[in-house]
Amino acid sequence: MENWKMDLIKDAKIARENAYCPYSKYKVGAALLTDSEKVFSGVNIENASYGLTICAERSCIFSAVSQGHLDIKAIAIVTKDGGSPCGACRQVLNEFNPEMIVITSDENFKNIKEYKLSELLIDAFGPRNLEEMTV
Ligand code: THU
Repeated sequence: MENWKMDLIKDAKIARENAYCPYSKYKVGAALLTDSEKVFSGVNIENASYGLTICAERSCIFSAVSQGHLDIKAIAIVTKDGGSPCGACRQVLNEFNPEMIVITSDENFKNIKEYKLSELLIDAFGPRNLEEMTV
């Protein structure tokens, strides 16, 4: 695996330490890389009103977009077991780059997988579906 991908996984692992998950205790860290080589990270942030929880992938991408960076090339996600992004997060990632690289890893870097987002969310609904809409 290329160095920049391992670096991104390590960034996600470091971010993971800030996960706020007192209910599930399932810590998730994410780090994304933009075409302009900027890195943004995110964690899952749970809430006593459980449904308000936000996943690490979405907090990560919302951080990048909030700072004006939409050119997302890759995202790495680290969990205890190398879990895969949930369906809601796949859809949110798709908005910005259906071909982005998605890397998942467990906390010991033993179980590392790499995908293109379009493999994880085939035939996605996205911005193109709303092009040339007339009111
Ligand atoms: N979680 C994520 O952060 N990303 C995912 O893709 C799956 C689930 C979080 C949400 C919740 O805080 C915990 O993991 C257990 O569901």
